[in-house]
Amino acid sequence: MLTVFFCLPLLVRARTRHMFSRNFREHGAIPLSTYLKTYKVGDIVDIKANAAVQKGMPHKFYHGRTGVVFNVTKSAVGVIIYKKVGNRYMEKRVNLRVEHVKHSKCRQEFLDRVKENAQKKKDAKAAGVKVNLKRIPAQPRDARHVSTVGNVPQTIAPIPYETLI
Ligand SMILES: *[C@@H]1O[C@H](CO)[C@@H](O)[C@H](O)[C@H]1NC(C)=O
Repeated sequence: MLTVFFCLPLLVRARTRHMFSRNFREHGAIPLSTYLKTYKVGDIVDIKANAAVQKGMPHKFYHGRTGVVFNVTKSAVGVIIYKKVGNRYMEKRVNLRVEHVKHSKCRQEFLDRVKENAQKKKDAKAAGVKVNLKRIPAQPRDARHVSTVGNVPQTIAPIPYETLI
């Protein structure tokens, strides 16, 4: 029984020596901007523990994960994260101080595209033309001719191996 009491606090931060260390040139006082951000329920946030603040720290499992805010309090936010456990995903609700989260950029591109596409559609409708909003993956490069003028083709072959003694 006693071992359980001794082990738990030790294991919670076990193997986080590098994970929780502050990054190169990011030591020192925490910028005030960290505290001036506004978090709202439904915001997508990235979790990155700041080792300078030991209160309200995420467990090492949640470090580097992204979740959705479900609760906002004076100095902390509640975040929902889906954790893979065996053959299923469990909804985990963790409470973290704001030092350990930041707004995620994972949805920004999509939101920008929605806006852009709406504008494109509007413009196309006004102009009376059809518009294709589908994205195409990067295609192969176009075929082209290479001039041999002043550019004689050369044959390349491997150099024979020679023992250097
Ligand atoms: C948000 O957190 C506060 C403080 O822990 C708690 O009292 C409240 O019930 C929480 N709200 C929700 C929706 O979980």
